[in-house]
Amino acid sequence: MTIHEFPKDFLWGGATAANQFEGGFLTEGRGLSTNDFVTAGTKSAGRKISIKFADDLTELIDVESSIPEEAVGYIDDSIYYPSHKATGFYHNYKEDIRLLGEMGFKAFRMSISWTRIFPKGGIEGEIPNEEGLIFYEKVFQECMKYGIKPIVTLYHFENPVYLADNYNGWAGKETIECYMRYVKLVMTRYKHLVTYWIPINEINVLRGYARLGVRDTSASTRYQALHHLFIANARTNKLAQEISSDFKVGCMLALSGIYPEDCKPENVFGALEFRRRALFFADVMIRGYYPSYAGSMLEELGAIIETTPEELALIKAYPSQFLAFSYYRTTVYNTDLPQKVDTGGQLGSENPYLTKSPWGWPIDPIGLRYVLNELYDRYQAPLFIVENGLGMNDTVEVDGTINDDYRINYLRSHIKELMKAVTIDGVDLIGYTTWGPIDLISSGTGEMNKRYGFIYVDLNNQGIGTLKRIKKKSYYWYKKLINTNGKDIN
Ligand code: BG6
Repeated sequence: MTIHEFPKDFLWGGATAANQFEGGFLTEGRGLSTNDFVTAGTKSAGRKISIKFADDLTELIDVESSIPEEAVGYIDDSIYYPSHKATGFYHNYKEDIRLLGEMGFKAFRMSISWTRIFPKGGIEGEIPNEEGLIFYEKVFQECMKYGIKPIVTLYHFENPVYLADNYNGWAGKETIECYMRYVKLVMTRYKHLVTYWIPINEINVLRGYARLGVRDTSASTRYQALHHLFIANARTNKLAQEISSDFKVGCMLALSGIYPEDCKPENVFGALEFRRRALFFADVMIRGYYPSYAGSMLEELGAIIETTPEELALIKAYPSQFLAFSYYRTTVYNTDLPQKVDTGGQLGSENPYLTKSPWGWPIDPIGLRYVLNELYDRYQAPLFIVENGLGMNDTVEVDGTINDDYRINYLRSHIKELMKAVTIDGVDLIGYTTWGPIDLISSGTGEMNKRYGFIYVDLNNQGIGTLKRIKKKSYYWYKKLINTNGKDIN
């Protein structure tokens, strides 16, 4: 049954982030980002941050733990830091965009590395780095050549080190001012090249030094920093309106779905409350106000924050125009069991009805339709799936082919469900960008072997490889799908 037509201008494409894809560490004037100190991890052991104390002692600490007062982030030359080279987009962008262009991409989501534009983050009087500005200009022009619309994330899991160390990252109000200088500069400079902007990636999972720039991990610091991000988001929305009436600016959350384990009322209500911890962010940024449950939620989390009536009025006046989100899986909520947070959402108890990826992420295409409906029912705002995909360790066969049918199956099943959400349920969906169309570094584990791409990159977990690009079987499949606007899905 089809009631609604699938949009002709649907934005099919793929999504990346500078710290996982770009490389070009400290090249051509780029400054240090907090993510530059993050080491590679493994499937079981998490990632670490390398720090140094005044007495010259160095240490590796858990990526989400507090940075001791007397320590600073430190680059140890004997350690491999995946973001420094990543998968080489900085030097290879022409070939990469050509490959995406040949696939027929309509949209390419990427992030700007803030310290490439302002090495210190945009402190008062700081001169922007022209070479960094030129780099992104060339990237956007290259996209234009192939009719690809850039979807630009302004803050994706990396914070200028200067701001982290001097203002406690987003916990300090100074960071808002610096961010706004950066946003004003890039929005003005690229206004003829970029229409879609995403101020903050996955705001609901931001925590710690690497992703939020905060040196201590208390709930109060975290939620104060997130409140400052709400202000920055609203100010970005306002600024965007002033710079170009064509701009479309959306908020972005990690919204993999959550089910109650069973009909036990504590599990059903618990799941609802748990989901609110994520939806809270969209409630503020789309509806424009702290929801009625916010007080009790913050209290339960132990977060005490300061807000002013002027700030709340600003958030109300400038909501986001669309809701972008990542969807990888669903999780099951049981009030008696702990939930683990990682990239891709939450991990809860086992779902006996679903199979899992080798990284333990349950595969749930219907969950995507469920989440699309949940969000559209709640917000009645345009939605944009800006991340979805399956991380797998691909094999290059002796004849050089990569037969990633598992990826095709994953994507096909999810796209079928999103099409039902649009054509049957009437969800207003702008587009779909798969995660990592060209292989990139895993954010959660720092591994290279957790690959999402249609295009293979020759690099291993230790950072060794030629960076050569090879088309996988899924490349041809997605190309056909885009060229038929989703009709040829087989
Ligand atoms: C999202 C992030 O949470 O999930 C991406 O926005 C990340 O940066 C993606 O890469 C997939 O997670 P992972 O851990 O498999 O890289």
